Parts: sequence; C-alpha cells; structure tokens
Amino acid sequence: MIAIKNERELVAMRQACKITAAARALAGEMVRPGVSTKQIDKAVHAFIVAQGAKPSFLKYHGYPASVCISVNDTVIHGIPGGYTLQDGDIVSIDVGAYYQGFHGDCAATFPCGAVSTQARKLIDVTKQSFYEGLRFATPGHRVSDISHAIQTYVESNGFSVVRSFVGHGVGAQLHEEPEVPNFGAPGRGPRLLRGMTLAIEPMVNQGVYDVRVLDDGWTTVTADGKLSAHYENTVLITDGEPEILTVAEGL
Ligand code: MF3
Ligand code: CO
Repeated sequence: MIAIKNERELVAMRQACKITAAARALAGEMVRPGVSTKQIDKAVHAFIVAQGAKPSFLKYHGYPASVCISVNDTVIHGIPGGYTLQDGDIVSIDVGAYYQGFHGDCAATFPCGAVSTQARKLIDVTKQSFYEGLRFATPGHRVSDISHAIQTYVESNGFSVVRSFVGHGVGAQLHEEPEVPNFGAPGRGPRLLRGMTLAIEPMVNQGVYDVRVLDDGWTTVTADGKLSAHYENTVLITDGEPEILTVAEGL
C-alpha cells in the first residue's frame, strides 16, 4: 500500500522537508579543504535539533550519525569521522529530518575546492538526471518511467547508475513503498497518484555500476574505485507539476 498524504499531513511534511533541505545546504557550505566530516555531522545534528526536529538517520538500523558523508569513490552511507576533506574531493551529503510525524530526505554532491573536469561533469549529470526523472513524476505515469528517464540520461553521458540501492516512498517512515529504481524499462511498477511522496535519488558512478559494502556494514564504495555522485529530493506528486518538497527557502 502506497500512502497518500492529505493536506494536513503535507503541512507537516513540507516543514520536515524544509528543515532537511536547510540542513543539506548548511552541510554543503561547510565543504572545504581542512574540514573533517565529523565537524559537518556535528553542525548538522545541532541545526536539526535546534529546529525542534530529529535526525532521521541517527540510530536508523543502528546507523551511528546524523548525516551520511560519502567522499570520492564512496557511493552512499559514508560514516562521518576523522577524515579531513582535501582539495579536489567530491563530497556527497545525505540527510534526513523527522518533524511532526514526517521525514524529509535529500542529498547532493558538493565539490571541495577545485575538482577535475570529469568530477564536475559527474556531479552535474547526476543532478540533471534527477530532473530528467522528475519530468515523469506525474499522475498517468508509472514509477519506472522515472527510472528509465534517469538511466537513459546518465548512460547517454557515459556514466552508470547504481543498481543495488534505489529511491523510495518517504513520509511517516523514512523508507516506504514504492521502490524507485534509477534504471529499468518504462511502463512498469505502480501508477503515480496525487499525494504520493517519493525520494528520487540517482546514485551515479563514473565507471562500473557495481558497488561493495565495507566491513563496517554501511560504507558503500564503487567496485572499481572510480568516483560516484548522488542527488536526491523528496517530491510530492500533484495533479500538475511535481512539487519538490526539500527546498530550504522560507525557513
Ligand atoms: N537517504 C538514505 C536513503 O534514502 C538514508 C540513509 S540510510 C541511514 O536510503 F541508515 F543512514 F539512515
Ligand atoms: Co533516500
């Protein structure tokens, strides 16, 4: 069953998503050489709590931090710690906030200092692939129409989409139905309806799409050691254009 959010629920969810987006922006502004990933995690935690919200990821299935910070060949679920960001790194920040019964979930990859042309292209293609998918996030389409648009755009730019992790419904739970893959044939999966809220989140690799999870059980890296980028927003299906809920404006 895919939850349909009513207007009252959406008021709370918009607020949760605003806090989440502001946390992403704050983290992104901290990305520069010499800053440790732990410092970013601490600042984001303090910000979310100051808003009267809770970090969605902290203790989720035992996850030990408020943010996922995934540098260079780390795809997702990088655990903040002692690593100090270096000039030329690309830094994926994924954050969630829980407020008045609802979660927001969003991510973006930020360049640290001066990054290579290929790294810049990877970041840009990943973000644009989200917008290519978003064009199909309307009633009358099915979930995999989003998936197919993302994959087509990414691959036409010479990159690959991660298969073993996918986007998802989001709302009262961080992960709800349906799964939203970033690959696949169009015309499959549930039909999209007004009031559904989806986390659309392409994870894009420079080389092969295969990934491997490190012994900590979280850190997910590219199998070939090449770069990876991530971009995610929480999106509301409406009768018209989809509404991106994870926007920081107005907080
Ligand atoms: N944004 C991630 C996702 O959509 C959530 C991180 S998983 C956690 O799956 F365990 F770290 F919370
Ligand atoms: Co997500």
